[in-house]
Parts: sequence; C-alpha cells; structure tokens
Amino acid sequence: MIPRLLAAPAPGWTADTDVVVIGSGIAGLVTALRCRPHGRVLLVTKALLDAGSTRWAQGGIAAALAADDDPGEHLADTLAAGVGLCDEEAVRVLVTEGPDAVRRLIDLGAQFDRAADGSIALTREGGHRRRRIAHAGGDATGAEISRALRAALKDADIEVVEHALVLDLLKDAAGRAAGVTLHVMGEGQPGGVGAVRARAVVLATGGLGQVFSATTNPDVSTGDGVALALRAGAEVTDLEFVQFHPTVLWLGDGARGQQPLVSEAVRGEGAHLVDASGTRFMVGRHELAELAPRDVVAKGIMIRMRETGAPHMLLDGRHLGARLWERRFPTILAACRDRGIDPVTEPIPVVPAAHYASGGVRTDLFGRTSIPGLYACGEVACTGVHGANRLASNSLLEGLVFAERIAAALPDDLGPAAGEPEPPQGAQGLVHPDACTEIQRIMTAYAGVLRDADGLAAAVRELDRLAATAPAGAAEPGVAAWEATNLLTVASAIVAAAGRRTETRGSHWREDHPDRDDDAWRGHLVTRLAGGGLTTTYEGMAIR
Ligand code: SIN
Repeated sequence: MIPRLLAAPAPGWTADTDVVVIGSGIAGLVTALRCRPHGRVLLVTKALLDAGSTRWAQGGIAAALAADDDPGEHLADTLAAGVGLCDEEAVRVLVTEGPDAVRRLIDLGAQFDRAADGSIALTREGGHRRRRIAHAGGDATGAEISRALRAALKDADIEVVEHALVLDLLKDAAGRAAGVTLHVMGEGQPGGVGAVRARAVVLATGGLGQVFSATTNPDVSTGDGVALALRAGAEVTDLEFVQFHPTVLWLGDGARGQQPLVSEAVRGEGAHLVDASGTRFMVGRHELAELAPRDVVAKGIMIRMRETGAPHMLLDGRHLGARLWERRFPTILAACRDRGIDPVTEPIPVVPAAHYASGGVRTDLFGRTSIPGLYACGEVACTGVHGANRLASNSLLEGLVFAERIAAALPDDLGPAAGEPEPPQGAQGLVHPDACTEIQRIMTAYAGVLRDADGLAAAVRELDRLAATAPAGAAEPGVAAWEATNLLTVASAIVAAAGRRTETRGSHWREDHPDRDDDAWRGHLVTRLAGGGLTTTYEGMAIR
C-alpha cells in the first residue's frame, strides 16, 4: 500500500504567499526570481540553498551560441538522443529559447569561461555534433550558476526557508493546488509540520538518484517531488528512463551514495575510453565512438566489463596534458588526486552510475501539471524534451527555459485566489528509514543499467514486501521516514514502468527484449496513484 499522505492532516502552523517554489537548483531559483514581479514568492528548500544537483553540474549548459551553430542542429541532436520519444514541440521551445535564456543568465551575473577572442568558450559532450556546451570555472558550471542566482536572490525580496522538507500538496474544494505541507527543521523558523497556503505551487525538487546505491546525485535527491505528485494524483511519465552516466570515478566494488563525476567534457576534449589492455572499445560501436549519446556509451562500458570480467573501464586523458587538465578540469583533477589517481599520468578507473531521471511529473509547455495550480520544472518534471535519453547538458537549459515559461504563464493562470485548502485525506503509512539501503539494493540489482522480466518481477515482489511492512504508525514520523517513504514510492513507480516496457530504447535496456519496437512502444507510460496502488497506462505518440 502506497500512502496518500506523509503527515497528519492538522498542521501546527500556517503561512500565506502567492507562489511557493519548492527547490533551489537552477529551476527553482529562476522560477522564484522571474515570478517575483507577479506577487509574493516563498522559496523553500530541503537543505541549504546550494545543496541540490545544480551545483554539482560539471560539463555545462548546452545552447546554440556559436556563429556556426543553429537551434535546428541542437534540435536534431536532442531528438536523436531521445530515440523517438521526445516531444518535438517541447524540444523546439528548448533550443530556440535557449540561447537568449543563457544570455539573460549572464545578465543576472553568471560568468562563463571565455575564449581568447572574448566569445563564450564552448566544448562538446556525448551526442552533440558541434561544440555547444558553455562552461564555467572549467568544470564547475553548476556551482557558478548557483552562485550567481543566489546572489540575485538576495536583492529580490523573496522569502527563503532552508531545511524545509515538502510533504504533501494541499488542494481546495475544486481540486486546485492551494499550498503544501512542510516540515521545517531550521533554527529560528517555526518548527515542525505546517502549511503554506499559496495560489500556485511550483515543484523544482530535482532528481531521484538516491533510489540507487551509487549515483552522481547528492543525498537530498530522494524523489520527493515525484512522490508528492503521485500522492496528489498528478500524472507522472517516462519513469523507466533513468539515465546512467557512463563515467563516474570507480571507488571500489560496493561504493555507495554520491560518487565523483568525471564529466563527458573530458571525452569532449579528447580523452579515450579503453579496457585494461588499452583497446578503445567504443570505436566501431558508434560513429561518434566515445562521444556517442550517453546510453550508448554506458552500455558499451557495461558490455566490455562483462566480456572482460573487469570491475571498471579506464578513461585515458594523459595526452591532454597537465595544463589542459588544470585549466579545464580542476574539480575532477582534485577529486581524482584526493583518491590517489593522477589523470595527467594514469588512466582514470570509471564505471556508470545513476545520474538523471529523464521522466517525471508530466507538464505542458508552460510547466503546468495535470493538477490546476501545480507546476513543475527542472529534473522533477517531464516536459517531453528528453524522451528516452537526455542529451548531455540539456538539463540546466531545460530548468532555465521552462522556469521562465512558468513565470510567463503565471499572471494569466493565477486567476482568483485559490480556495481554502481542504484538510488532506488519505491513509498514512511510513516506511522505516532502515529500508533505504534495501530499496537501493533492490533497484541496483534489478532495475539498474541492465533489466529483464525476472529481475523486475523480483523487484516488484521485494518492494511490495517492504510496503506491506509499513502499516499506519509502523515508523515514527520524521525526515528519515518521510524520505524512505518517498524512495519506496518512486522505486515502485520506476519498476512498474520498466516492467511494462518490453523493448530496449534509450536508457531503458531490457536484456530479454534487446530491440527497439516502434510498433508497440513508440509512446509514453503514464503512472498515477489510485487508491493504494500505482496504475501505468500506455499512450501512443502521434506520428508527425
Ligand atoms: C557531465 O558533465 O558529463 C554531465 C553533464 C550532464 O549530465 O548533462
């Protein structure tokens, strides 16, 4: 039984605003800044303002900024990476509005690396046929964007609450979003569970990588937004498409939690993937070799690991030279050297790890979800731009462009004030925090890079067993139990969709159905929570 509520229906305190934005990565910060002219904005975030995934982004932000590039080429590369499941209209919005959105980000204060002639320096990553990735601080792009946006926030008269975990959506009698319940943990704040009443609720809660044992995502990425949306009755799509980044630093078998990323930009600057014998195994697998789309490279690595019995592959960037490593990749260089590996003189051991949810809470082109008044942007959302596999460095751009679109739609959407929130209804049943490691083990064993029917059926059984041990009152309410409950909800939804899609496409790799099947599966799986159970329905795509 998946609970419909995390917290008791009677909150201890209440606050009012016009727009409540949940999350403080690029999507949340830009939404808050751009919505401010339309009313009061309250930004809440689960930990510190810079604790989410944005600040860990290395490679950069993709946009057709070069004189010899154009949005049409960016569109073509994005559609190719998405393997037939992108919403072409959403991608067109992304690539045509992207370049000016990046320029507005620069106007807000973000400082990108520059070439000798003063133009924005651009690099390549997997799936891009051109240099179109803008970066900052070499490989610290997300950190610079986060810094600039947080600085802009200080002057924007936006109330910020850190250390606040969002729990459930509040709705009015008409079913419109009317706020959220929150648990506030910070000192100097009204503590405990309370309610924020708002005319619009924007989910920008980021990803769900912590569902797996090893991920590039920080600790806070426990799928809270997807789980909240499911509990509230919103539609969630494409959850089976969890992208595994091909190259994280291998820290030994059984490494758990957030792993150090080795950006695709390292391959973009010329590093090669090799096996223990020095063979470049991606050559001949795809015309772009190491710069093939991410799913192709992750699979190439997994296959070679299996063929050779090696626990990892190697990324050889010795020929890039010390100067390039120091200038372009200071973060990666330091992370490797901290662990006794010097990329200037030796290849880096790498493996794939969970990285990005291409699916999420379903939205239209203005971030509207299936619940009036509830919006989503950034990784928590499924705008349709990623399809079955996100193109590298399209995520920061998506967060930026669709956050601006929510703000553009808001004045017309707000209408009359939302009604009084109804007391939330539904069964509670919290998962014990000890279950987190078990959820991650199940997901990694059965729903990771390689999937098949038997493994996915085992995952359903084992996750159901964990859910069955969570009757009302089984676990004490608290952040750890709420996060565990969110992880279990999201894991169950991923497994339901992955079991349903009996084909291999993009980042969904079914060993028992190794081919893509456009006749049966060129469409989306839409997941909803009804009663106590998840339903997953298939919607074919219109052929354009
Ligand atoms: C990377 O730098 O390789 C990650 C970029 C991304 O996930 O888009």
